[in-house]
Order: sequence, then structure tokens, then C-alpha cells
Amino acid sequence: MTDQLAAEPAHRPGSGPWDAQEREFDYRVDEITGTVPASLRGVLYRIGPGRLQIGGHRLGHIFDGDGMVSRFEIGPEGVGFRNRYVRTRHFAKASSRWIGRGIGTQRPGGFLANAFRLPANVSNTNVVAHAGGLFSLWEGGRPYRLDPESLATIGREDFDGTLRLMGAFSAHPKVDPASGEMFNFGIEIFPRPMLRTYRRDRTGAMTRLGTVPLTRPAFCHDFALTEHYLVFLVDPIVVGRPVAAALGLDSLDHCLTFDEKLGTRVALVPRDGGATRILETDALFHFHATNAFEDGDDVVVEVVAHDAATAWSQWNEAVRDCENDPGAAFGGRIERIRIGRRRVSRERIADTPCEFPQLDHRYETRAHPVTYAAAASAPGGDPDSITAVDHTTGRQDVFTVEAGNTVCEAIFAADPERDRGGWLMSVEHVAAQARSRLLILDTDRLADGPVATAELANHIPMGFHGTFVPSMSW
Ligand SMILES: [Fe+2]
Repeated sequence: MTDQLAAEPAHRPGSGPWDAQEREFDYRVDEITGTVPASLRGVLYRIGPGRLQIGGHRLGHIFDGDGMVSRFEIGPEGVGFRNRYVRTRHFAKASSRWIGRGIGTQRPGGFLANAFRLPANVSNTNVVAHAGGLFSLWEGGRPYRLDPESLATIGREDFDGTLRLMGAFSAHPKVDPASGEMFNFGIEIFPRPMLRTYRRDRTGAMTRLGTVPLTRPAFCHDFALTEHYLVFLVDPIVVGRPVAAALGLDSLDHCLTFDEKLGTRVALVPRDGGATRILETDALFHFHATNAFEDGDDVVVEVVAHDAATAWSQWNEAVRDCENDPGAAFGGRIERIRIGRRRVSRERIADTPCEFPQLDHRYETRAHPVTYAAAASAPGGDPDSITAVDHTTGRQDVFTVEAGNTVCEAIFAADPERDRGGWLMSVEHVAAQARSRLLILDTDRLADGPVATAELANHIPMGFHGTFVPSMSW
């Protein structure tokens, strides 16, 4: 027994990119290399699952970890760090004696403990700021409103009753930079499956817009916004085993199937409230859209497309066990989908495997000149690179971190002194030191490496998405 233990070196907590961070910190970062740009002032918020086990229960999927927000305040005095768990109902209740059902986590106790249970809202997918409010989002339920300074959880949000009892508010809302309006959608299953869309104006007043009817409940993670439309590509990731899902016989993610013959439903929902336009096209497999824009009578939407031949089950098995096998998770390719009056066509833009596409948000709803993304330099590996794809020249710039380290989504902050471009911020996980660092990169000189690096005293899990709020925005 002693020999076996000696043969297997203990895993150092924090040395893995998804390792839990149970502690909550508040401090000023002491160690900054390089110079934080004078035009970069504001707060970067990031979110993801803070822990993947609760009281000895290993969760079944990275989608199921309780949301933890990290806050980086970037000012003339340097960088301040704070992290807090979102005080969801699940976070408050979860313990060694009780955990909720997740997307890929079954509660202990067999099917009886899981039957007729929807997944718990762990509010872990994105954090967005709009109209003076900060919200953590999870696509199957309501947002949680957070204090932008302290990160204290204020409570669940229904936007003055605009969200219905079972109304969800998805994790990738889009803001029109010209009007300040935020648009989003939520999936509804009862009385019939549909996507319901919303507009929240710059004062925070929210109204319902049109719906996208679905033939069956489907997984739709993101959408895009043009000058006149909300653009949806609803892939055929559907509940293939509804009885097993409802009766708790298997985890919900294992009850989803990619049913290629159903194809992808393309829907354009007018921003002014008119009727939804729907087309059907060949099955696409994607999660994230970078942006969309109108080109004459056509609408062009850019996505990160994954291989439809391997599709949901292979992608999901890699992602649910992301700690050990990132696999296909970062293996998408940037594509542009052109939606005509009757025809939909696809064009691959770059061959670099990537995920988490970003843009200069000043171009949201218009043709954006550059796409930024997190990429894996070794196919099937963890994301270790940040890439920029220039749509005018075709040029690609890449920055890759030290071998063994990983990066997360690179979040864009506009440089007010430039018409296009600015700064990308990502959190690098430094495996050997079991801690993380904030990287600040210049979009025009990506390959030169960070212009500034702020070394945290702790690690934070890689996480999913986030947002940057410039100082002048509040
Ligand atoms: Fe996402």
C-alpha cells in the first residue's frame, strides 16, 4: 500500500487547469511584469465552474460546477483581484449530503433521486454587464444579479416579470454598440418547444420579441445580431431519449443526440417585432457565433463549426471530462454561413482548431475585420494559444504560452485611441506553479507576447466566458 502511494505522485491542488478554487480572495496583485496600457482602464469579469466536486461527490460534467466569478480591476494603481461564488440556491444547499442534478451529473440514489428533476441552476456560464447591472448567466434558467464591486449575490432576476416562471435567459446576450440595447433568448419547453427572444434597452427596460418554433426541444447555446435581425442556427442536438431523461435513468447529456437528418433550422427574428423567417439547411454542429452582418439581401453569420461526423457524443465525452481529455473541445473551425432568400451556404475561413471566438465589439452587427479565438496548438490538446484571423488579408497571428500551460477565452477591450483593435485579456494557468496569471496582449502585436502580466497568488479554474467593462461605462 505504501509502495503504491509512493509510485503515484500526489496531484498538487491547483496544478490542473480545471482544479477547484474553494477560497475567496481580495487583494492587490504585487507582481506585474511589463506595463499595463494607460488606455486600458476598467474591470474584467470572468466566470466558470469553481469546483467540480462537492463533499466527496465528483460531478459528472464541467457544465455542472457552481459558478465562481473572478474580478480583475485594472487601474492606475495596478491590478486588484477578487473572486466570489455566485450564491445560487444550489450553492447554498449543496453539501456532502445533497447535490442537485446537473446536465451530466446524476444525484446519488439512483433514478428515484433523479426522476422528474430539471438540472440545478449553477449560474456558471457567462457574466455580463448591462444598464448598470452585472449578471451571471446559465442558459437553462434565470440570471443572478451581482454587485459589480463586491461580487455579492443580490438575487435571482426576472427583469420586472418579463421572464416567465420557466423562462430561461441564455448565456450569450448581444449588445448593439450603436443603440446600447441588449438582445437575448431563452429556450422554453412548455407548452411547446420554442426560443423566446428579448430586447432590453439601455435603461434596463426589457420586452419580449418574436419566437422561433422548434419541432422538438433542442440545445441552442448562442446566436448573433445584425442591424435588423437576431440570427439563430438551431442545430439538431435534441433530446433523443426523453423518457430516460425524465425518469432519471441516465444523465441529461447522455440523453441528447445529434440527429443529422433533422438538419439545422435557420431563423431570422426581426428586431422590430415582425414575423420570424425560417429556412432549413444541412446539419451544422456548433456552439458559438462570433457575429453576424447584413450583406445586400443576405445575412452572414460567423461561427466556430465542429465536425458534424463526430458531433455531440464525442465532443461531449471530451468536455465532460475536460480535466483529463480536452479532446475535441477546442477543435472547431471558423466558418461564415451565408443566408440568402432561399439558400444557405458555408465557407471555411481558417483551418486553425479553436473555440471561444471574439471580436472588436465596436463592429458587432457589422462586418468585423478580425476574429480572435483560443486555440490548441496540438490537435486534441488543451487551449494554449490565442489567435487572430484577419478577414481582409487572411493573415493569422498567434501567441502560444509555455508548454504545459493553458489559456482561456481572450476577452477584447477596445483601445479608444485606435479605430480598430486594442487589448486581449486572458488568464493563463501556470501548471508548475499551481497558480494563474492575467495576460494583457496588444491585438496588433499578438505574437510579441503580453505587454503586461499580473501574477496571481492563487490559481483559478479555466472557466468559460466573461466581459470587460471600461471605467467610463458605469
Ligand atoms: Fe459559450
